[in-house]
Amino acid sequence: MIEETQKAEAYQHLISKAEAALSGEPDPLIWMAGLSCLVRDTMGFFWVGFYRVQGNELLIGPYQGTFGCTRIPFGKGVCGACAVHRKTIIVPDVHQFPGHIACDAESRSEIVVPVFDELGQTRAVLDIDSVDYDTFDRTDQDYLERIAEMMRDLEWSRIA
Ligand code: SME
Repeated sequence: MIEETQKAEAYQHLISKAEAALSGEPDPLIWMAGLSCLVRDTMGFFWVGFYRVQGNELLIGPYQGTFGCTRIPFGKGVCGACAVHRKTIIVPDVHQFPGHIACDAESRSEIVVPVFDELGQTRAVLDIDSVDYDTFDRTDQDYLERIAEMMRDLEWSRIA
């Protein structure tokens, strides 16, 4: 895990890398695969990945980490709550979050960020888990929302 002081710098670095590698690419799955890899590699988080909105469910998409839960109904767990409320959720201690879904007992804190398309529809959520408590703060939220925003104009109908 990187130091707090280096966090913003690391996010800027990974955003530059993502822009260089992915700009002009219209396919959401390629973006999700690339971003999962870049975020985990750069930031050292335990689990980084996407769940795709399909009807009233979240289906696992590209991710990096241990085996993730495959389907999450809207409203369940942190990811399901994020999909319903359409807002980033930071959970400092997953054991205190009612209904948290423990895909891996190692996970202790979590951030989930919604990904919207150009019409403002929720197309996916970006889920990140840490093995430490209280890992995520406003800096993570700001940069991860900026990363989600980079995916706004993709051709989401390709994975509908
Ligand atoms: N903990 C999440 C489920 C997904 S895993 O962390 C990969 C939740 O409560 O929604």
